[in-house]
Amino acid sequence: MLKRTNYLTRTYGKPEGWGLAAYERELGGYQQARRALTTMTREQVVDEAKKANIRGRGGAGFPMGIKWSFMPKGSPAPGAKPHYLVVNADEGEPGTHKDRTLMEQNPHACVEGCIIACYGIGAHVAYIYVRDELHLSKARLEGAILEARAKGYLGKAPFGKDYAVEVYVHSGAGAYICGEETSMLNSIEGRRGEPRMKPPFPANAGAFGCPTTVNNLETIAAVPAAFGLGADEFSKLSALHHINDGGVRLYGVNGHVKKPCVVELAVGPTFNELIHDVAGGVLGDKGILCVIPGGSSTPVMRPAETVHAPDPKSPLHPWHGKSVFDVPLGVDTMRGVGTMLGTCCVTVIADGTDPVWCMQNLMQFYRHESCGQCTPCREGSAWLLRVSEKILDGKASLQELDGLHDIANGIMGNTICAFGEGTAMPALAILQKFRPEFEAYVRGQRSRADARLTVEPWS
Ligand SMILES: Cc1cc2nc3c(=O)[nH]c(=O)nc-3n(C[C@H](O)[C@H](O)[C@H](O)COP(=O)(O)O)c2cc1C
Ligand code: SF4
Repeated sequence: MLKRTNYLTRTYGKPEGWGLAAYERELGGYQQARRALTTMTREQVVDEAKKANIRGRGGAGFPMGIKWSFMPKGSPAPGAKPHYLVVNADEGEPGTHKDRTLMEQNPHACVEGCIIACYGIGAHVAYIYVRDELHLSKARLEGAILEARAKGYLGKAPFGKDYAVEVYVHSGAGAYICGEETSMLNSIEGRRGEPRMKPPFPANAGAFGCPTTVNNLETIAAVPAAFGLGADEFSKLSALHHINDGGVRLYGVNGHVKKPCVVELAVGPTFNELIHDVAGGVLGDKGILCVIPGGSSTPVMRPAETVHAPDPKSPLHPWHGKSVFDVPLGVDTMRGVGTMLGTCCVTVIADGTDPVWCMQNLMQFYRHESCGQCTPCREGSAWLLRVSEKILDGKASLQELDGLHDIANGIMGNTICAFGEGTAMPALAILQKFRPEFEAYVRGQRSRADARLTVEPWS
């Protein structure tokens, strides 16, 4: 059910809403960081974080509190490796546009979240990694850090507590792959932005070889709200609290809708609610061809797809037989219907758009952004693009069309990082769900001249 909230967005659109005065007035400014540092132990902070059931907002949906608990316990002994917090604000995923709204309109929540998280994981330094072209985001974050430091909320003894915390903004040079956490760590260290093999995981050997927690910016910005409300109460706001997917989050809607937007909602709206009630419906009141649930790396879903969950014990059973467009959007519910929630920014694709051209367009992106370390990803993404182009040009055979499945399957599970799956999964979903359209090109019944990649709102 659609439940609008404003725990993260109350300062949005307010005069100077990004400043400390607005943050103090509207959202209790830094009271939770003060409470955490002056009245709680590190372990209590991590326990509270676990109870909030905040699933990582960067794409994979890993529980935030559990990730924090992977960090070595206790404070690093003198001379031991320091701990770091790295906040991922790269936001390079196509169709994803939520983190920048927080940085621009509520940067103090990001800084306060960093203070609480640093204390919880035993770190004294947080780096917020922002893509270079997001000039306003960087300026607003820098401004918030200066204001917090001037007030004594950052520095050697925040709130009088002998626990130094500093937050730095680190500019990325702008490559999609630098959003992948280990690639980001390399980039912060001044190396080429290429993913590292895991293990070791960042909690053991992250930034500068030291224990590091990497979290998405929205994940961290949600922490003050969760602590302010009480972790349990915060979690219960969600329709999916019972399956450990708690709280509120930012939902984006873009593509062929009348009012593309970012809104804050309790976890659990449906695609139908987002598209029709939040984003004003589809351009030109057309039907929906498909949606990309949360960034282009997530498999597309079509409105006619239904939920298959006959087992009453399945969390999806209440929607058995219903359209996937009526299922609450959560990390596990989307996994259960064969896609991923990802970044939670839905791209709507209207009827009349050519799915074959969509595939070619996506593959162009992945071919360009592959870092090239792994052969299946480097060669596979190029191959997927080449064959998609051949199909569009009416020059491919049925055998080549079938071969696309093999190429995509050859990438899955055979690469250093999840970029490989992020390329292969959407390709496989489009191929499976739009087979007749692909075949029509191969049989010469459809040509590029009739194809459209977008729709006119008036037609
Ligand atoms: C190719 C690729 C790009 C990614 N880009 C981003 C990104 O822009 N922002 C982000 O927060 N996470 C991104 N991720 C996910 C991160 O690797 C990491 O899982 C995330 O930052 C962890 O934060 P969370 O647990 O709070 O979600 C990307 C992953 C891959 C494989
Ligand atoms: S999967 Fe692709 S992006 Fe990731 S490391 Fe391998 S080549 Fe680079």
